[in-house]
Amino acid sequence: MKASITMDKAYTVGEIDERLYGSFIEHLGRAVYTGIYEPGHPEADERGFRRDVLALVRELGVPLVRYPGGNFVCSYDWEDSVGPVEARPKRLDLAWRSVEPNLFGLGEFIDWCSEARASPMMALNLGTRGIGDALRLLEYCNHPGGTRWSDLRRSHGRSEPYGIKLWCVGNEMDGPWQIGQKTAEEYGRLAYETAKAMKRFDPSLELVACGSSFAEMPSFPDWEATVLGHSYDEVDYLSLHSYYNNKADDLAEFLAGSVGMGQFIDSVASACDFIKAKKRSRKTMMLSFDEWNVWYHTKAEDMNRDPWKLGPSLLEESYTFEDALAVGCLLIALLRRVDRVKIACLAQLVNVIAPISTVPKGPAWRQSIFYPFLHASRYGRGLSLDLRISSPGYESSRYGQVPYLDAAATVDEGSGRMTIFAVNRSPEERAEAEIRLGGYEDWSAVERLELAGADPKAVNTAAMPGVIAPRRLAEAGRVEGGRLCLVLPPLSWSVIRLAAPGRG
Ligand code: AHR
Repeated sequence: MKASITMDKAYTVGEIDERLYGSFIEHLGRAVYTGIYEPGHPEADERGFRRDVLALVRELGVPLVRYPGGNFVCSYDWEDSVGPVEARPKRLDLAWRSVEPNLFGLGEFIDWCSEARASPMMALNLGTRGIGDALRLLEYCNHPGGTRWSDLRRSHGRSEPYGIKLWCVGNEMDGPWQIGQKTAEEYGRLAYETAKAMKRFDPSLELVACGSSFAEMPSFPDWEATVLGHSYDEVDYLSLHSYYNNKADDLAEFLAGSVGMGQFIDSVASACDFIKAKKRSRKTMMLSFDEWNVWYHTKAEDMNRDPWKLGPSLLEESYTFEDALAVGCLLIALLRRVDRVKIACLAQLVNVIAPISTVPKGPAWRQSIFYPFLHASRYGRGLSLDLRISSPGYESSRYGQVPYLDAAATVDEGSGRMTIFAVNRSPEERAEAEIRLGGYEDWSAVERLELAGADPKAVNTAAMPGVIAPRRLAEAGRVEGGRLCLVLPPLSWSVIRLAAPGRG
């Protein structure tokens, strides 16, 4: 199959906010306990943080971590998680029907973030709690001292405020599964009043209102319009959540999911712009895609678990090679809309639907999906270019026309680096791709990485962690006449890195 990618230096989508490569740690399953935190593990530091996991998180280059949920947050009392550990209560977590021991809490998370070189994105409990609790938590975290809640923090040995700038005003408040589900009217008013009060404390806070839990919610996109009808002026982002699956074992349809992601972003942006027009506002609402991933291998069995365990094995997906390709496609879809999507969180980070897995008392390893995320997070910085792609494709029953070849390109003029991320969705045909480097004709290809050739159902395991790993090609490719011609194998993820003249 022949395909082409055309770029022009003058046409960009926008600047990539580094928070596009955020992730998520929820008190769910083994994300925290025996995930990032396991006192007594040979790799644990004096605080119980697993150094092997931290090293993988740093390798992944995650600049932002959402916490502590997810569904968990909607019945969470943060006060239980601060102060002397021996005095903290064990509590029932109704979201995941587990026991929360509160051994790892707010202060530990802040310390862990600084080790991980990430900043926190804190979610508020607007399920069982409300504005008052949000303000107490904000004061505890961000006020220097001399008041009840800031002095409580100081009494816990934390003299410096945490300075948390980014807050989720609740989580999935439209979901019937949520403790404290709200109607759009109820939530819109609550989001507005909570945001208004928080901004009175600090107008520079960045606040994310909850959009629909997923695009198929019957109330989508009326939910968005109603919620923003109330809160548009006080919030800075609207959230999107979406998980993709191959339950039907239909790879073509699965890999079309990223086209669906693009359509979802378009629809949410339209709902935001409708309210913008209605309010005659000059502000454009930005988007926070703060839960996205592939999730389906474990759902059914998780429903039948024995409840009230501490750190149970929940949502422990074993990601396949085809899941890695799907994640690559989703990253391309996100890069294509950096004009609106400023924040995104791969859900989640460790053990729970995660790129990093651990064995209690044992090793940590990289799942298949680790690699496309690593590549995008490491190399997908700077500007996202507005590409034109011409490729044969196929018809998806859900999303319409899908090209076999899909791609995004990012350029960082400062470091003189460009990266092209490309997926070939075809299971049979290689793609002979001509990449037209408009405005970058004198750049040269310096590195080419590839995930290809694996059994679509192959997985990495603790015993065999290297089954799926990218390979570095001997030849990166040659730019001739401003064109780079490459052959992309069937079912492959490719990363092509170029350098400006003299910067190779
Ligand atoms: O990420 C797992 C769960 O998915 C989160 O707790 C919830 O917000 C979503 O439904």
